[in-house]
Amino acid sequence: MLRKPLDYIFPSPPEGLNPESLVVEAVPRHVAVIMDGNGRWAKKRALNRLNGHKAGIEAVRETIRCANDVGVDYLTIYSFSSENWKRPLEEVSGLMNLFATTMLAEVDGLHEEGVRVMTIGHTEGLPDKTRAAFQEAWDKTKDNAGMTLVIAVNYGGRTEIVDAARALVERSVAAVRAGGEPPEVTEREFERFLYTSRIPDPDVILRTSGEMRVSNFLLWQGAYSEFVSVDALWPDFDRYELLRALLEFQRRDRRFGAV
Ligand code: IPE
Ligand code: IPE
Ligand code: MG
Repeated sequence: MLRKPLDYIFPSPPEGLNPESLVVEAVPRHVAVIMDGNGRWAKKRALNRLNGHKAGIEAVRETIRCANDVGVDYLTIYSFSSENWKRPLEEVSGLMNLFATTMLAEVDGLHEEGVRVMTIGHTEGLPDKTRAAFQEAWDKTKDNAGMTLVIAVNYGGRTEIVDAARALVERSVAAVRAGGEPPEVTEREFERFLYTSRIPDPDVILRTSGEMRVSNFLLWQGAYSEFVSVDALWPDFDRYELLRALLEFQRRDRRFGAV
């Protein structure tokens, strides 16, 4: 349900975009975002890629606030993939610093808004300062009742599935050794070993910069997500772009294989 009035959330909509057309009872429960295009945004301005990532922070802030206000329950943001280590060291370390400083700067504001922060991905592979900042945000906000912000960092969908398979095998071996029954191998049981075990599947996966691929994001969970591609580069994304994407989602006919 809406957490703020629509005219407060969207004070000056551009011509032709009507916030009142949002069906507030049918806002997606879980929105997942592949934030893409920071590098191209910087290149267009003859800046280095890190300036693009810095410019993207404002879009993250606005997206979190707006999603929370319109009543989204889970917002997952793809911040760093397990493949992004292939980038130049300067960009990777710049991103890691940016994550740490931004998380520390934003945690109090998020806490005040009632947002609950968590991460998915191999955070133990992050520099100490970055990992500690995410952990601090998680600990501080864990009892909040507003939107859950899931930060996918050092995340890879295939690794997540393999991790789950390994955990299931380990559990089975331990159960048999103890003379008990191993867990059943069913979709339901398997899902309990994913990083997202207590999180509903994303209703919509939104990707900026016009790209049409999933890039190893939520491979299991996205089986029936609606994919929305937005042309804007991530630093240009704002609440009105989010509103457009939500309206696009609401025009889709989700069939889940039925007729
Ligand atoms: C997305 O923007 C941010 C991260 C992957 C961290 P990119 O850095 O991928 O931007 P482009 O795709 O090069 O424009
Ligand atoms: C996906 O974007 C990862 C994140 C947004 C964190 P990429 O820019 O890394 O994806 P590819 O390389 O274009 O597939
Ligand atoms: Mg990219």
